[in-house]
Amino acid sequence: MRIESELKRKKIGVLMGGMSSEREVSLRTGETVYQTLVDRGYNATKVFVDRDVDLVLRQAGIEVAFLALRGRFGEDGCIQGLLEILGIPYTGSGVIASALSMNKVKAKELFRLHNLPTPPYYVLGRPALDDLVTEHGSFGFPVVVKPVCEGSSIGVAIARNHEELRQAVENAFLFDDAVMVERHIRGVEVQVAVLDGQAIGGIEVSSKGGMLDYQAKTMLGRTTCHFPARLSPPRYHGVLVQAQKAHQVLGCKGLTLVDMIVSDLGNEYLLELNTLPSITATSLVPKIAHGAGLDFGDLIETVLGSACLKARGDQTYQERDPYQHGFQRDDEQLAPGAFTAN
Ligand SMILES: Nc1ncnc2c1ncn2[C@@H]1O[C@H](COP(=O)(O)OP(=O)(O)O)[C@@H](O)[C@H]1O
Ligand SMILES: [Mg+2]
Repeated sequence: MRIESELKRKKIGVLMGGMSSEREVSLRTGETVYQTLVDRGYNATKVFVDRDVDLVLRQAGIEVAFLALRGRFGEDGCIQGLLEILGIPYTGSGVIASALSMNKVKAKELFRLHNLPTPPYYVLGRPALDDLVTEHGSFGFPVVVKPVCEGSSIGVAIARNHEELRQAVENAFLFDDAVMVERHIRGVEVQVAVLDGQAIGGIEVSSKGGMLDYQAKTMLGRTTCHFPARLSPPRYHGVLVQAQKAHQVLGCKGLTLVDMIVSDLGNEYLLELNTLPSITATSLVPKIAHGAGLDFGDLIETVLGSACLKARGDQTYQERDPYQHGFQRDDEQLAPGAFTAN
């Protein structure tokens, strides 16, 4: 394949680590992706992301970025914006789609706008802690409390009464300034992988504790999976269609993993969409891909093949200029660190 051979000549940076609470998951995905790319003959290098990521990216001289990051700064549009500015094509969704998907409330607003089913919810700011009972009003129980912009079930808890609600909300505020309270849906949890705009399959997941908590999501043996999800053919088809639409309305690219619940009454609900799902030997996406006929290496190569710049087409510039230009005279170069006032 022409694209593949072109990519084999490029220096590919696997961006991993990052500054979010999901750093560990990111490092595992990054190691796996790096090893797979090397085994398949790519010129891959590991790029550990921290606050100095801009310097590291300039020095590493990578031509394509494979994003193995998670959570804040990595999955929310920040690193995507930096890569756009540096002109380095990257895997996954662009700035806006990443930011919208990371914010569970904004994502739900878009689902509702496009008539996609999602559980009822309301949002709290810190002042709400003064009178949570009034804020909650007649919303009812049980509910699921989540920080608006986290992942991997960090800060997520079920509350069955006002006391548990207060505890869960206070805990969620440790992770974010906005907290969402969502109606708890009893049913089967299904996660659907969407690759290049096509839903490739849905896997049913459950954990011993009921909710898929951080431990269940990140540790082997805590979750039970069934692929494909044990739903009737029309219901399974419905779940794939809704997930594909969710990917579309948020404007996502490359690979995404859509969290859904099919209620005991048979209704489908969208919970959220992950723009950079983990890809390790034990994670869900490779299992779904395998069911769709893609082995692990094929999956990684397909994701890599979709890397591009979203804001300005695929026009990379190879020459990076370490000097800052003045605003008035383009030809004037300032010493590093200096800047002009106008
Ligand atoms: N409304 C809900 N009803 C039932 N379970 C839920 C609901 N929302 C979340 N959960 C459970 O909590 C887990 C984490 O919630 P999710 O919204 O996917 O956030 P995260 O970004 O942390 O994965 C889900 O995988 C599911 O097991
Ligand atoms: Mg989730």
